[in-house]
Amino acid sequence: MFVNFRRIRKCQCVQLMTTCLVLSVVMVCWEQLDNNVVSHVKSYSYRYLVNRFTYLNKSLTIPREQARSFSNFRYLLDHPRKCADQDVLLLLFVKTSPENTERRNAIRSTWGNETYIQNTLGVTVKVVFVLGAPQTAKEKPDGVTFQQQLIHEDGLHGDLIQQDFLDSFHNLTLKLIMQFHWMHSRCAHAHFLMTADDDIFVHMPNLVKYLQDVSGKGITDFWIGRVHRGAPPIRSKDSKYYVSYEMYQWLSYPDYTAGAGYVVSGDVADKIYQATLTLNASLYIDDVFMGICANAVGVSPQEHVYFSGEGKAPYHLCIYDQMMTSHGHVEDIYDLWKAATHPQVKQKASGLLGRLYCTAVKVALLCKPYYVNTYSCKAAFL
Ligand SMILES: *[C@@H]1O[C@H](CO)[C@@H](O)[C@H](O)[C@H]1NC(C)=O
Ligand SMILES: *[C@@H]1O[C@H](CO)[C@@H](O)[C@H](O)[C@H]1NC(C)=O
Ligand SMILES: *[C@@H]1O[C@H](CO)[C@@H](O)[C@H](O)[C@H]1NC(C)=O
Ligand SMILES: *[C@@H]1O[C@H](CO)[C@@H](O)[C@H](O)[C@H]1NC(C)=O
Repeated sequence: MFVNFRRIRKCQCVQLMTTCLVLSVVMVCWEQLDNNVVSHVKSYSYRYLVNRFTYLNKSLTIPREQARSFSNFRYLLDHPRKCADQDVLLLLFVKTSPENTERRNAIRSTWGNETYIQNTLGVTVKVVFVLGAPQTAKEKPDGVTFQQQLIHEDGLHGDLIQQDFLDSFHNLTLKLIMQFHWMHSRCAHAHFLMTADDDIFVHMPNLVKYLQDVSGKGITDFWIGRVHRGAPPIRSKDSKYYVSYEMYQWLSYPDYTAGAGYVVSGDVADKIYQATLTLNASLYIDDVFMGICANAVGVSPQEHVYFSGEGKAPYHLCIYDQMMTSHGHVEDIYDLWKAATHPQVKQKASGLLGRLYCTAVKVALLCKPYYVNTYSCKAAFL
């Protein structure tokens, strides 16, 4: 017993020394080597060796009256009764910008078609587009303003939710907050909330089946997507994702899911809503801010290998059989929707031979010796 105990102590000692060594190397190299690799190493060491995000909550907590300034924008377009009197499985927010009409129409007639989902999958999914206000200076050649065009579009489809803040990259966190507040006041009974980019493809039949399973098991604290662990804040001023030390002081972000598309259960959505009431939302990277909110309320994300994050799925029926999301689809969305929901997919990918064939195909497509931004190799064996 005694020997064992000593051995454990020794192990811990070695671990501690390694930690110190890594950290001191990191410290020494700090200024000279501040490139991408080093910042990832620093951030990873921080995430896995230090990993105390409890201080985040305290230092970013602000009085409620001040936090309100991030959420009390006027609604320019709204549908308060969108979810009323219905059992909504999934409330799906698509983050869009005023000028992306084409993308919205493509989604409406493919994976985001509520009527199709209701008729063929037998569940209620609400797809709404969230956006801010267009720049007033922008006007189309025929004299119609973007806002008039949006009002017209909303008249046809009734699915735009718009608040009176400028629609811009640096206001994405306001858009995130708007989603959780809208759900809280207009659709709190939805079982799941999803947030997605407007250039994403969602395999709705696969997703619905999966969420029905999860819902049936009564799972709570559910947050799923492509997880970023120990990601470092980018300190180079040329980057789109530049974050100043003033805005975020630490070496690594808490774990979060890629903003391209992720799902949370209703209980998590409510907790995030509560967190937004007292947090400083000036950090404009919306998925990171989501990670901070979740951290404050003790929720952590789980990886699902068929959520692609920023990656794009290979075009193959063996992939269509299991995919959830794939990023970067605009022109090809109609074709992909047809191919991915074709009855042949399930036929060919089932049975012993079908499964063997698909495993081989997926290994060939996903387990490349070089990096391809798509599903991970693990997905081949699922
Ligand atoms: C949505 O699906 C329904 C039924 O499948 C179809 O009639 C309708 O045209 C579709 N809507 C769009 C915008 O394509
Ligand atoms: C965000 O929206 C607010 C309110 O419309 C606006 O004043 C501000 O300039 C916007 N910020 C950015 C960075 O676009
Ligand atoms: C929120 O954080 C920003 C820095 O990102 C800071 O300038 C601002 O004063 C903070 N707001 C409050 C209310 O503390
Ligand atoms: C911050 O943490 C405290 C205690 O850990 C908790 O009571 C509080 O709700 C958290 N704040 C937010 C905004 O979640």
